[in-house]
Amino acid sequence: MSLRRLHHEQPESFGFTPANLEWARGQIAKYPEGRQASAVIPLLWRAQEQEGWVSRPAIEEVARMLDMASIRVLEVATFYFMFQLQPVGSVAHIQICGTTSCMLCGAEDLVGVCKEKIAPNPHQLSPDGKFSWEEVECLGACSNAPMAQIGKDYYEDLTSEGFGDLLDRFAAGEVPRPGPQNGRWASEPLEGQMALTGEIAEAANGSVHLAVEIGETIKRIDGTEPTATTLMRANGGVPTIAKPAPKKAPAPEPEPVAEAPAAPDPAPASATTESAPALLTEARGGQPDDLKRIKGVGPKLEGILHELGVFHFDQIAAWTPAEIAWVDERLKFKGRIERDGWIEQAKSLAGGGA
Ligand code: FES
Repeated sequence: MSLRRLHHEQPESFGFTPANLEWARGQIAKYPEGRQASAVIPLLWRAQEQEGWVSRPAIEEVARMLDMASIRVLEVATFYFMFQLQPVGSVAHIQICGTTSCMLCGAEDLVGVCKEKIAPNPHQLSPDGKFSWEEVECLGACSNAPMAQIGKDYYEDLTSEGFGDLLDRFAAGEVPRPGPQNGRWASEPLEGQMALTGEIAEAANGSVHLAVEIGETIKRIDGTEPTATTLMRANGGVPTIAKPAPKKAPAPEPEPVAEAPAAPDPAPASATTESAPALLTEARGGQPDDLKRIKGVGPKLEGILHELGVFHFDQIAAWTPAEIAWVDERLKFKGRIERDGWIEQAKSLAGGGA
């Protein structure tokens, strides 16, 4: 456990924005007379969301609002690691999980990227003041290791190259889509989703969907962000993440993600941009290629491809965009072929590559 104390440089003062002050008063009002101190964590957290970190003036202001001794609020702020006690990057503070799963899957490489791109030491600001980083304990996304929390969201299934790109995009003012970065929807098996295969599986998962819609992954709370109420109003009174996709019925049976259609031949009437690729009734010479050698294709997807009439790498290598769309439609996992680079892999494998 590291020593947690107030930073040696402190701002002159702290004040909640009018919107945050109103919010804070609402929190305090939840508690009976004489128990206002119960709001200490929400208020400290709001102060951190506003400023990025918890300063001494913020602690003193919270103590004043809750009629507490400053030392009591300081005790709380220094006890919980979720409170940052030193300035953080103006764009984002990066928290790399360094616990077992993430460590085994490459967390040290991510720390290396932070050291190279941000600063050599944790809690040290980057030269431009935009970023800071630290290593933290398990963030509970172990099946998507390695991962990092950036702002309010998780970025999962990271590689050091992809993580470096993410940082560059944040620095350029973008807010990259949070969640798994390897094409997974959530923490389903790599070869495809096995449950909850209804229409929502084709959109981002709930938290990612909301983060993308609000666009506030790393935004500081200053009162300008949409509230749940305004989001619901804009959405016709329906919570955004629960808004159903209009056209598709839920999966009728507990089949895995990539459920095959009963008949592979007919293309849907509406699919004007699709066209069926060249299909076979059986593998040439009775010897199908091992399609599982393509990243993202597991036994289930291989079986579906066989049902469709796809047995060989050279068939996949020859798919046009319209043919990819046709197959995509039948895999019920849109975008997977391009995301996982099936065509490039199949070309290489068809040519005898590894
Ligand atoms: Fe990294 Fe659990 S070990 S999220």
